[in-house]
Formats: sequence, structure tokens, C-alpha cells
Amino acid sequence: MERQITLIIHFIGLGLFVTTFVAGFILNRQYTKANDLQTKATILRGMRPIGLLSPFASLIMLVTGIGNMHILGYSLFELPPWLAYKIVFFAIALISGVIFSIRGRKRGAIIQQMVAGSAPANAEVILKSHDQQIRLSYLIMPILFLIILTLSVFGRTGAL
Ligand code: HEM
Repeated sequence: MERQITLIIHFIGLGLFVTTFVAGFILNRQYTKANDLQTKATILRGMRPIGLLSPFASLIMLVTGIGNMHILGYSLFELPPWLAYKIVFFAIALISGVIFSIRGRKRGAIIQQMVAGSAPANAEVILKSHDQQIRLSYLIMPILFLIILTLSVFGRTGAL
């Protein structure tokens, strides 16, 4: 019973992750298409709570993942390869997520400054670089996520 409960919560975390990716991707496209700064600032404000969901989803995955390991009797020093790789990719995804979210915050700040007319002279260049990095995150994060998902399913079904 314990195993089923942690697995259900693990899957809820997984669903939350997919939701944040898809919602973030759609809103980021709207942001890119918007022609004026005020609209861009409004879209970014709407993206903030969605961005906050992903650390929450990560925490759910980590806590329930550790719970799953405990229930299945895995020790950190004696992991099946799929799980060892999964934890490594999860750590990479966490670090990438932190880096991209710092970028996102910086982008929000520069847009606010541009709206208020207090942005530095090279604001457009800085904004372009933030935009490129964030666009890249919508490629890198789903790839990492797919790797983790593939390792989980193929690993658990004995195909790895
Ligand atoms: C984005 C992160 C994660 C995703 C997408 C994910 C996905 C999954 C999926 C789909 C399964 C079910 C596999 C199956 O039964 O066919 C699973 C099981 C499992 N996951 Fe994760 N997981 C993530 C993070 C973690 C972390 C961080 C850990 C460990 C610290 C972990 C440990 C486990 C374990 C031990 C199982 C086997 C549970 C069981 O069969 O009862 N997961 N995961």
C-alpha cells in the first residue's frame, strides 16, 4: 500500500512538471509574439506562478523518489544503473532549472526597467540574450525530462 501511495504522488509530481513545461512554453510564445513592452511585462507576471510550480514539482519528485527507493530497499551505494543515471540526470535538471529561473527573473527585471524608462542603454541586447537562453530552456528541459522518464520506465520494466 505504501508503495502505491508514494508512486501515485510521484506521478502527480510528474503531471505537475509536464503542466509547467507546456504552460510555460505557450506563455513564452505569447511573450515572444507580443509587440509592446507592457504586454510582455503582463505575460511575464502571469508566468511567475507557473514558474514557481516547478521547484514544488521537483520537491515532490525528490521526496517521493526517495520514498520509492526506501520502499524498494535500494541504498544510495548500491543502485541499479537506471536509477543511478536517473538521479544524475535529475541533479542536472535541477541545476539547469535554477540557472534558467535566475535568467527568467533577470528578464522580468529588465522588462520592468524598460517599461519604467530606467533601463541601461544596452537593455535590448541584454534582453535578447535572456530571451535566447530561455527559449533554449524549452528544448533542454523537456529533453532532460524525457531521458529521466525513459530511464524510469525502461529501467523498471527490465528493458535496461
Ligand atoms: C523528473 C523527475 C522524475 C520523473 C519524471 C520520474 C518518473 C518515474 C516514473 C514514470 C516511474 C514509474 C516507472 C514504472 O513503474 O514503470 C518512477 C518510478 C520510480 N522513481 Fe522516479 N521520477 C523522477 C524522479 C525521481 C527521483 C529524484 C528519484 C530518486 C531519488 C526517483 C526514484 C524512483 C524509484 C525508486 C521508482 C520505482 C518505484 C516503484 O516501482 O515502486 N524518481 N519514476
